[in-house]
Amino acid sequence: MKIPGKENGLSFRNAEHIGKVYRKSTPTSSACMYLFLQSKTSAARRVASNLYFCSDHSNRFLARRQASSLTVRNHYRQGVNTAGKKSPRERSATYIIVKYVFLLSYSASHVVVSLVKNYPNYLIINLDKLDYCASLKNLETVSEKENYKFIQGDICEPDFIKQLFETEKIDIVLHFAAQTHVDLSFWHALEFTYVNVYGTNVLVAAAHEANVEKFVYVSTDEVYGGSTDEEFDESSPKRPTNPYASSKAAAECFVQSYWERYQFPVVITRSSNVYGPHQYPEKVIPKFISLLQQNRKCCIHGSGLQRRNFLYATDVVEAFLTVLKEGKPGEIYNIGTNFEMSIAQLAKELIHLIKKTSSESEMEHWMDYVKDRPTNDLRYPMNSEKMHNLGWRPKVPWKEGIKKTIEWYKENFHNWKNSEKALEPFPVTEPFAQLSGP
Ligand SMILES: NC(=O)c1ccc[n+]([C@@H]2O[C@H](COP(=O)([O-])OP(=O)(O)OC[C@H]3O[C@@H](n4cnc5c(N)ncnc54)[C@H](O)[C@@H]3O)[C@@H](O)[C@H]2O)c1
Repeated sequence: MKIPGKENGLSFRNAEHIGKVYRKSTPTSSACMYLFLQSKTSAARRVASNLYFCSDHSNRFLARRQASSLTVRNHYRQGVNTAGKKSPRERSATYIIVKYVFLLSYSASHVVVSLVKNYPNYLIINLDKLDYCASLKNLETVSEKENYKFIQGDICEPDFIKQLFETEKIDIVLHFAAQTHVDLSFWHALEFTYVNVYGTNVLVAAAHEANVEKFVYVSTDEVYGGSTDEEFDESSPKRPTNPYASSKAAAECFVQSYWERYQFPVVITRSSNVYGPHQYPEKVIPKFISLLQQNRKCCIHGSGLQRRNFLYATDVVEAFLTVLKEGKPGEIYNIGTNFEMSIAQLAKELIHLIKKTSSESEMEHWMDYVKDRPTNDLRYPMNSEKMHNLGWRPKVPWKEGIKKTIEWYKENFHNWKNSEKALEPFPVTEPFAQLSGP
């Protein structure tokens, strides 16, 4: 039986087309029967469950299917389903399942939801350590879908990652996992280096060994360092000024070296600040919204004159879908927006919307200027023409995006068990008790 795949020279784009053809010919994706087992300890998870996991609410589904899981999977791989009927691969010689690994960061959760819903013939695998800032609630809308699988695991564990690639035959990797909070990075630089640099090296090495079709590394505008008037394009030098940005820049170098050395098809993205629902409230927009919703003041680092560009989450999803389809191997893409405002201006905007006031003195009442970070870049203006040439542009106006975000936090602030801690003017250190150093 001929199974089309990367070994037959098919690209993601072809696969997407084939997926559409397949959807027309077979109304159900139930043949895509990946069975998940659940276990509480990481050792048991890895050994006993053959890397299949799911969250609690899938247990009923699992109980029915567990007994025959591996049989179903093996038969499916051979092109035969358990009832002895032909699998979709046999019925449609052109059918292919494209698999991904995704990471459950705040931004990744939006991408995962979009892919699971819009690409039912692709199996979306979501790998995440479930660190202090992660919430599985962000994925409730897709957690029971048959083309979605969650795996709890750490990118800093080479054996586990290697086994994952061997077991799952992954075609495309989108690497979002990272320590991301700049404030914390000043106090925990080594942990940031460990996860962001070492973890990325583990992942890209395993992906290369497994011969994946595309490896997208999600980086940040912060690698450019601050600017006053210079607009950064992808060839601008990297001049990071904080440990988070330095670790992302170093990780980029490791990823890029796999292209230089092996022509391994990596793509690097550098995006502006992302905002929208699902974001752990340590980041500035959900932090200020949540503080104001609790009748507390916005804590502004330093002068508040630092300016940031903000992109709404669904625009970022569109950007990653564009990069997956059109991004060229070995290339870097800025994912930016011209929409920019200072942190003080952001606070005023949120006070206006949440406290319903435009009076300067009332606004000042809700603003608390606190000690600045050790370094705080002034601006990150980026030129995103390369992305525009691929057909992507941000679409969601600030007024619309921020209203949706404010609404979401009214009901969902407690989606994380430690959300209150995120509202301190400066980060607390406890979350890092979980981090094992090198
Ligand atoms: N949020 C932004 O504004 C922004 C802007 C530009 C780039 N980025 C990049 O996008 C990516 C996602 O950012 P975010 O803000 O959504 O992140 P986030 O902090 O919300 O989530 C990071 C995720 O990584 C997971 N993680 C951490 N260490 C891990 C490990 N060792 N193994 C597996 N999983 C691990 C965490 O559990 C968490 O779910 C990051 O790489 C970040 O550098 C983010």
